[in-house]
Amino acid sequence: MSNIKPTILVTGGAGYIGSHAVLALQKSGYEVIVFDNLSYGHPELVHDILKVELIVGDTSDRLLLDKIFATRNITAVMHFAAFIAVGESVTNPAMYYRNNVLGTLTLLEAMIAAKINKFVFSSTCAIYGMPQEIPMTETHPNNPLSPYAASKYMVEQMLKDFDQAYGLKSVTFRYFNASGADPNGQLGEDHTPETHLIPLALLTALKKREFLSIFGTDYETPDGTAVRDYIHVNDLASAHVLGLEYLLNGGKSDIFNLGNGNGFSVREVIETAKKITGIDFLVKESDRRAGDPSMLVGSSQKAQSILGWKPQYADLETIVSHAWQWHQKRHGKLE
Ligand SMILES: NC(=O)c1ccc[n+]([C@@H]2O[C@H](COP(=O)([O-])OP(=O)(O)OC[C@H]3O[C@@H](n4cnc5c(N)ncnc54)[C@H](O)[C@@H]3O)[C@@H](O)[C@H]2O)c1
Repeated sequence: MSNIKPTILVTGGAGYIGSHAVLALQKSGYEVIVFDNLSYGHPELVHDILKVELIVGDTSDRLLLDKIFATRNITAVMHFAAFIAVGESVTNPAMYYRNNVLGTLTLLEAMIAAKINKFVFSSTCAIYGMPQEIPMTETHPNNPLSPYAASKYMVEQMLKDFDQAYGLKSVTFRYFNASGADPNGQLGEDHTPETHLIPLALLTALKKREFLSIFGTDYETPDGTAVRDYIHVNDLASAHVLGLEYLLNGGKSDIFNLGNGNGFSVREVIETAKKITGIDFLVKESDRRAGDPSMLVGSSQKAQSILGWKPQYADLETIVSHAWQWHQKRHGKLE
């Protein structure tokens, strides 16, 4: 094999998880091209921090994809591009099915036409629905409860059929709660609107928000608040490099959970955020939100044994302090 590493097209590489995966790919020596429509992405991170080529385009643009695949020597695609807000998907499902399902279908068809047959896909633990067992494994029954989750599930179905019919090999990762930030503080989470607990807590500490809401304090959990599995974004990124290499080495299509195996409650996250920031911010308790399970914790044994993946930042304080470093840089320290 030559020393030249393959070129990877990263859709959604200007977003939160995709940008961290680009950094991990670069560190492993891969050539990377980012493809992002910038609906939510941050081009300055691609230009100034990652310093890779950014092609501004939409996954529904077949002509553009055909051109890219015909002119660039792309070996595999990592597909992060999607809309991600569960609540919005309930009020505007068409937008989610169009972007997440049709956009992905167009991308896959362009890949198949160009004979590119390696694909790494961002799915979600939300396809499991209400947990019937904890920790949840990949064999847990699927019951997506929102159009967002259903859109991911539909892509998983497509990938199964496309392997059989067209030989498209894929690694699907079902993430639990992505969290944290690059330990060097260069990249991090910046969603608009923000719906994730850790950034919301840190934005409240930074006085960008008045208060933080706890939805539900009467769950059957040790402190009554919901428990989630927070997986550090750099651990997600390293799994993507391993998933890619598994496919490059001839691995068969497969599905892997990515979680850290430890659950943390909303109150634990808030207490950790207060401790790390040294700021006591206002917290308000309100009712449960419909459809929120009490506990979501994943088993990632399969990724560990097949891909050799090992999460490095499973500790909540580390996750929150990396996120805090990024948030202060992004939003300014308090005077
Ligand atoms: N954040 C989480 O906790 C989490 C959990 C489970 C799964 N996921 C999945 O991980 C992936 C990345 O999530 P994220 O948190 O980084 O989101 P993000 O919004 O930060 O990144 C998504 C990127 O995709 C781009 N994009 C969206 N639609 C596009 C399209 N049609 N064509 C081109 N670019 C497009 C956006 O501009 C954005 O840069 C998504 O597929 C999401 O469903 C995220």
